[in-house]
Amino acid sequence: MDVGKSPRLVLCFFLCFSLQTHVSFGGDTISGNESLSGSQTIVSAGGNFVLGFFKPGNSSNSYIGIWYGTLPKQAVVWVANRDIPIVDSSSAELKLLDGNLVLFNESGIRIWSTNLNSASSNSTIAVLNDSGNFVLRDASNESKILWQSFDHPTDTWLPGSKLGFNKRTKVTRLLTSWKNSDDPAEGLFSFELDPNGTSQFYIYWNKTNQYWTSGTWDGRIFSLVPQMGLGNINYSYISNAEESYIIYYLNDPTTLSRVIMDITGQLKVLLIFQLPTSQQWNLGLSLPSQCEVYAYCGPFGVCNENSMHFCSCVNGYEIKSPSDWNLGDYSSGCRRSSASANGAKDKFLPLSRMKLPDNSVSMAAETAAACKVACLNNFSCNAYAWSGGCLMWTGDLLDLQQYSGDDSEGSTVYIRLAPSSSIRKIVTYVLGSVGVILLFGLAFFLIWRKRRSVVTAIADKGSLMVFGYKDLQIVTKNFSEKLGSGGFGSVFKGTLSDSTVIAVKKLESISQGEKQFRAEVSTIGMIQHVNLVRLHGFCSEGTKKLLVYDYLPNGSLDTHLFHGKEDSKVLDWKTRFQIALGTARGLAYLHEKCRDCIIHCDIKPENILLDADFSPKVADFGLAKLVGRDFSRVLTTIRGTLGYLAPEWISGVAVTVKADVYSYGMMLFEIISGRRNFQTSEDSSIDFFPSWAASKLHAEDDILTILDLKLESSEEAEELRKVCKVACWCIQDAEIHRPTMGQVVQILEGLLDVNMPPIPRTFQLFDTSEDKIFFTELSSSQNSQVGSNVSVASSQAKRTTSNHI
Ligand SMILES: *[C@@H]1O[C@H](CO)[C@@H](O)[C@H](O)[C@H]1NC(C)=O
Ligand SMILES: *[C@@H]1O[C@H](CO)[C@@H](O)[C@H](O)[C@H]1NC(C)=O
Ligand SMILES: *[C@@H]1O[C@H](CO)[C@@H](O)[C@H](O)[C@H]1NC(C)=O
Ligand SMILES: *[C@@H]1O[C@H](CO)[C@@H](O)[C@H](O)[C@H]1NC(C)=O
Ligand SMILES: *[C@@H]1O[C@H](CO)[C@@H](O)[C@H](O)[C@H]1NC(C)=O
Ligand SMILES: *[C@@H]1O[C@H](CO)[C@@H](O)[C@H](O)[C@H]1NC(C)=O
Ligand SMILES: *[C@@H]1O[C@H](CO)[C@@H](O)[C@H](O)[C@H]1NC(C)=O
Ligand SMILES: *[C@@H]1O[C@H](CO)[C@@H](O)[C@H](O)[C@H]1NC(C)=O
Ligand SMILES: *[C@@H]1O[C@H](CO)[C@@H](O)[C@H](O)[C@H]1NC(C)=O
Ligand SMILES: *[C@@H]1O[C@H](CO)[C@@H](O)[C@H](O)[C@H]1NC(C)=O
Repeated sequence: MDVGKSPRLVLCFFLCFSLQTHVSFGGDTISGNESLSGSQTIVSAGGNFVLGFFKPGNSSNSYIGIWYGTLPKQAVVWVANRDIPIVDSSSAELKLLDGNLVLFNESGIRIWSTNLNSASSNSTIAVLNDSGNFVLRDASNESKILWQSFDHPTDTWLPGSKLGFNKRTKVTRLLTSWKNSDDPAEGLFSFELDPNGTSQFYIYWNKTNQYWTSGTWDGRIFSLVPQMGLGNINYSYISNAEESYIIYYLNDPTTLSRVIMDITGQLKVLLIFQLPTSQQWNLGLSLPSQCEVYAYCGPFGVCNENSMHFCSCVNGYEIKSPSDWNLGDYSSGCRRSSASANGAKDKFLPLSRMKLPDNSVSMAAETAAACKVACLNNFSCNAYAWSGGCLMWTGDLLDLQQYSGDDSEGSTVYIRLAPSSSIRKIVTYVLGSVGVILLFGLAFFLIWRKRRSVVTAIADKGSLMVFGYKDLQIVTKNFSEKLGSGGFGSVFKGTLSDSTVIAVKKLESISQGEKQFRAEVSTIGMIQHVNLVRLHGFCSEGTKKLLVYDYLPNGSLDTHLFHGKEDSKVLDWKTRFQIALGTARGLAYLHEKCRDCIIHCDIKPENILLDADFSPKVADFGLAKLVGRDFSRVLTTIRGTLGYLAPEWISGVAVTVKADVYSYGMMLFEIISGRRNFQTSEDSSIDFFPSWAASKLHAEDDILTILDLKLESSEEAEELRKVCKVACWCIQDAEIHRPTMGQVVQILEGLLDVNMPPIPRTFQLFDTSEDKIFFTELSSSQNSQVGSNVSVASSQAKRTTSNHI
């Protein structure tokens, strides 16, 4: 049975299941002398939620919890006994006792209870509501609620439940993260309303250290979370004599949502769209960025936004608890891996581009050298920094964060290391270098011997070839035949000795070290799909970094769409549709099928290459990661790229795969029209094709008028309409409204229907009061260049709006 397809089926599945195995349950209620144990569950009336014992992650412990009844993958929204687990649920019991819900462990010890003292004996029942609320109430009076799980949330905030506090009962409702993915016990991070009475929400570390604030409520959104205004969620903040709280509702019944205080220290909005077709949680919002989470990597752990796992240890330190780190709990941090430091002969290890850690002590020292001596002479000093004044740190170093920009960013922090560990490092380093030199020597020797016969390439692990720079110089005739250039560098044509034609990309501005570069490249090399350009090999010699790809004879899509050379044939509709579909398949593979999901970040016609049969292959995937944090700067310096950038790039929030979906949508419009989306016409007015096409689509006009004039009107009006709808869905402002690439593929293949998309708000935005939010966001954006470019784009869109609508 396909559990996924219909909620009713799932409900039946659960009901039948519970009926079969445990006769006593099947309803949504625990009453009188009933009790719940083992795998028994109760299911809410509409089947939305299930309550029973569950085991989180790989843990063998059991807890009483509530999870979604309609999803195949368990997502727990509430836990009763989060701090005290049960080992064997079959002999544990949840039951009503004297008007209280009580959980007994296998030895009959009461480990959790609703703890009401004024409980009213045996007329009480416990009901699991369809909203996910577990309610203890009077059996005969529905509104006489004695206790409810919504008053005691764990890490999840569901639609219709309140976060805040009740001024009369003094009940505070706040979210607290789980300890790790296997343990729902109270973790370090909490999300709660300002106890001092303002309308701001805070995220705290260990209840004391506030590292994020929502800003105050402005009547519609919290001032520092403009993203709340997008999307389909209706938030309200209410403050009256009795209580202050926020609450939210979804306007769309086919959407499921939850907000969690995640173990990453981020507040995350998770959504499922198009129920029941889709059952995948999408990330709607995640705040703040990972390294802004206070002390995320623990003592002596360094957070870096650009490394895959964010956390690493300072040199000379090692992970204190690898098992916790594997579960996503980095809070235990790192410990010294060598002899203890703090002697007079200690050395200092400089860490550059650092945000200064918390809890510094200033010292009187006039120069950097004096600062160093001051630290050396105080045995409790673990690190110092000289930034205009002398700062030192005693005790644990918390909240270490390394920027990945250039050296001008941040400060240098000097970490104290025992002399032995620095010596050991040097020895390792020297040995390592000797090894490298020997290897290079060997490689050169081999190259020397083979030079005349074949161009050398040593197979790396996997199927990637390692090329020498000299060889690439030879095969590309000293980089004479340039195929093109883009954000990452220029591309040259070359021919190997076996007459394989290759494309060699000379990378620029690679911020990564050798080891990371190789690791990254070998990841890219393992990704193979018919709609992705295959990486053949690479060259990495000092600053010379090159990638070697298969050569594709028909060049990139832009040359066929826009430049319309006399001799090149105009791509017919059928070919364009296949290009759209193939590109979507390639991207879906990157997003969903690879081991680590890859966001391309630079989808545009220039990066879609065509083979001899005009089958598309996506180029340059994985490169955004190589270039790292500078990437957005790279993007904005390239003419034309801006038109493909999703709005979230501009607002500085974390970019997800949905940014690619946006760029893909923009490109679809260009495939349809055969022209750039932003175009200056003869009277120097600027028009914006997607806006016009969307209005045509909505007006149900003759859709063929939007098709490239170079094409004969074809019979494919329906297909065109479909592609146009997909394009319009892809460029919705809110990521959450854009389809996944997987869904795009299904729609184009005809497996999934597509509704009429709303006209994206950015097209309409600029005449309403809402543009204020948009521009506030821009002016606070760090990258002023992006800001100014975008405001140009906005006025373009505005003009178009008045031209065409
Ligand atoms: C409650 O207990 C009484 C006696 O112990 C039993 O007769 C009755 O059936 C029980 N009720 C339920 C709903 O199990
Ligand atoms: C459970 O353990 C398996 C194998 O040990 C591991 O692959 C998997 O990621 C773990 N799952 C969780 C949720 O920790
Ligand atoms: C039941 O709970 C008590 C108190 O927490 C504990 O001491 C006891 O070991 C538990 N029994 C089992 C079998 O876990
Ligand atoms: C509670 O149950 C007992 C018998 O089990 C009954 O005599 C008594 O009237 C009940 N009390 C209420 C308040 O319903
Ligand atoms: C129960 O759920 C319904 C909708 O599912 C909601 O309107 C109602 O307020 C909920 N009741 C309680 C006590 O949570
Ligand atoms: C039900 O309980 C509510 C709240 O306690 C009370 O106001 C109402 O009068 C009760 N209704 C009945 C029929 O007892
Ligand atoms: C809240 O009030 C207390 C004392 O009234 C004050 O110490 C604290 O700084 C205030 N917190 C914030 C976040 O304003
Ligand atoms: C959190 O704070 C408590 C005291 O409030 C302290 O005992 C504990 O060590 C702190 N936890 C961490 C990880 O620092
Ligand atoms: C949002 O919720 C509030 C309170 O429930 C309601 O008054 C308002 O009409 C809702 N707005 C929309 C757009 O649904
Ligand atoms: C080291 O510095 C700390 C902070 O300034 C100070 O409290 C402590 O007394 C100093 N210890 C020594 C041995 O100088």
